[in-house]
Formats: sequence, C-alpha cells, structure tokens
Amino acid sequence: MKGYRQPYPVPGVIWASLPIPALLIDEADRILETNPAAELFLNASSRSLKGQPLFDRIHIDAEMDEACARARANQSALFINDVDVTNGEKPPMQCTVQVAPMADNPDLLMLLISPREIADRLGRAGAAKTAAKSAIGMAEMLAHEIKNPLAGISGAAQLLSMNLSPEDQELTDLIVEETRRIVKLLEQVEQFGNLRPPERRAVNIHDALDRARKSALVGFAAQMRFVEEYDPSLPPTFADPDQLMQVFLNLIKNAAEASGGAGGTITLRTRFDLSLRLRRKDGTGKALPLQIEIIDDGPGLPPGIADEIFEPFVSGKENGTGLGLALVSKIITEHDGWISVDSVPGRTVFRVSLPVSPKELQKKEAE
Ligand SMILES: Nc1ncnc2c1ncn2[C@@H]1O[C@H](COP(=O)(O)OP(=O)(O)O)[C@@H](O)[C@H]1O
Ligand SMILES: [Mg+2]
Repeated sequence: MKGYRQPYPVPGVIWASLPIPALLIDEADRILETNPAAELFLNASSRSLKGQPLFDRIHIDAEMDEACARARANQSALFINDVDVTNGEKPPMQCTVQVAPMADNPDLLMLLISPREIADRLGRAGAAKTAAKSAIGMAEMLAHEIKNPLAGISGAAQLLSMNLSPEDQELTDLIVEETRRIVKLLEQVEQFGNLRPPERRAVNIHDALDRARKSALVGFAAQMRFVEEYDPSLPPTFADPDQLMQVFLNLIKNAAEASGGAGGTITLRTRFDLSLRLRRKDGTGKALPLQIEIIDDGPGLPPGIADEIFEPFVSGKENGTGLGLALVSKIITEHDGWISVDSVPGRTVFRVSLPVSPKELQKKEAE
C-alpha cells in the first residue's frame, strides 16, 4: 500500500471492548484491523487477517459490493438487517451488518456485525430509534430494488395493451400510469438518500433563483406569474449551486401546487438582514444575513400538518410524497442555514436564511 500511514486513530480500549465483531477495511475491501470479538467470530488472529480480502474470510449473504460502494459514495452509514453471515467454518448466523465510512478517511469502512441474539440483548429500547434513523437508508435501498420489477410490469402492460379492446386498454393504461407514479416516488426517495455532501463556493443567489424560476416556468409553474423583488446589492452566499437551485425549485413547486392549478403569483424576494443569527450548540453564533423568501398567495398550510411539514413523508396532497421540504431542510442544514415558514390563507412565506460567503472566496471569484 503506497504512502500508507495509520489513518484510523481508533481508541484502542474502546475497540477492544466492543462486544460485537468490528472490522476496518480499506478502499479495496482488504482487512486493516479486527477487534477481539471479530477474531473470535472469524476464528483467526488479527495478524493473520491483516491485508486479506475481507470477502475471502467472511461470507455475507447480501449485495455487499453495492452496500460498500454506496456507503463510500454517500458518506453515510447503512444497515443490512437479518442476513446470514459465516466464516465458512461455522454454520451461518443471522446478523445485522452495519457499514459506516470513517469520518476522516472516506475510503475506509467500518463493518459492525451484530449476531441476532446479541442485537436483541443489546437493547430493544434503542431499536425504535435506530429503525427511524435508518428508515431512509432502508427506503432508499428498497426504492432501488423496486424500480426494476416495476419497469417490467409497465413494459408487460404496454405489450398486452396492443391486442386489447379500448375498454380493456383503459385498465392497462391505469397500470402504466400508476407504475409511473410509483417510480416517481421512488426516485424522490433515492434522491433524498443519495444527497452528496455539498460542494460549496461563492454563489450569486439571484442566479440560483433565476435558474429555478426558468426551469419552473417551462414545467409545473407555467400557469404562475412571477414577481421579483431582489436586493441587487446582496453579497454571494457560500453554497453548492445545484443544491441551492434544488431548494428554490422545491419551494417554487409547492407554491405553484398550492394554487391548485388556478394560477397565482409567486414572489421571489431577497434582502439583507443582519439581525438573524444561528446559535450553535457550543454557544457561539453565526450570522445568517441573506434572506430569500418564496411567497405565494395560495390557501396556506393545511392546519393539521403545519408543524410537521419538514418531516419526511408528511404531505397534505393526495399524490404528494412529503419529501420535497424534507430535502430542502436537509440541504439548508448542511449549508449552516435556516428555514422558516409563515402562513395564513392568501399569503405563505418560506424564508431561507443563509450565511455570506467568506471574503477571500469572494475575492477569488472576482479575479
Ligand atoms: N406554499 C405552500 N402552500 C401551502 N401548503 C404548502 C406549501 N408548501 C408546502 N405545503 C404543504 O406541505 C406539505 C409537504 O410538502 P413537501 O414536503 O414538498 O411534500 P409534497 O409536496 O410531496 O406533498 C405539502 O403537501 C403541503 O400540504
Ligand atoms: Mg413538494
């Protein structure tokens, strides 16, 4: 291994006392470290395991290549529940496998293997929380798995429809239409799960707003009138331009959908306001002076769900996914920003508050 250095400062005591098998693997899925529980599980010494391809030593009955690639690409941990794991000598054991990227070296992965009985013992109390946290990861994997058979179903329905009477074709059309709707939902679930870490740089907010407005106008917001109230002196923010545009697009989409297809006005407003600060957990504060408001004159938030609209899968629409605002909120949080909403019938304001780009970056962009 070229230029190899110890890139994983694992506190030895914690590592050694972990009651479940834990392994650290490198970018080529070779074993770097095993804790004592893993030595026991694999029935081999840490020294003899070092450098060995992981999947020569352990068989996990799941798409592990894909899981590892996914954990590396998304930089997030994932769970695989109830899979058979064996070292080839002992009979397979039902386990939960967790794959987590190392925080400071994204190519290294930590594998935690919890045999079922241990997992059960370790805490039913925590189970619900863990399930909720990993629900999106699971949903994302499911989404991926469901899309293929759906394509098959839809294709078969289209083939069938060729020899059918018009009344019966209505039924195959229904199949095709509904599968398309499910695919769209699944794509949103995947998009939510696959969100990459933002690549932030100095970004002109008005450019991002314009991109979103133009793209909305040729699609879902064709019937809407746009009003721009921009503060032209607004300094750039520090953001991933594509993700920022996605935020505005989702907010504009909701504003357009709120009008119920009847048309209406969407106001895009920007201003500078130094009074808003984000307080961090450690007590320090950060100014969020860039205010972007997406305002519509629709009926306002449905009262029953107003407090939960930023949660995933909360929707007030018959065909809604409830993922639009969850994605918005996830992106804004990763940008150290803040989002709030103020809604009465006839006037709904979604306000995004963002930090100003660091000065050096602004200068660099100007050069
Ligand atoms: N501008 C708005 N006006 C009224 N209701 C809104 C507006 N934006 C969001 N909502 C409500 O919040 C819900 C959640 O929005 P979202 O997360 O984008 O999911 P979806 O649009 O798929 O339902 C919507 O279903 C809707 O009821
Ligand atoms: Mg939406």
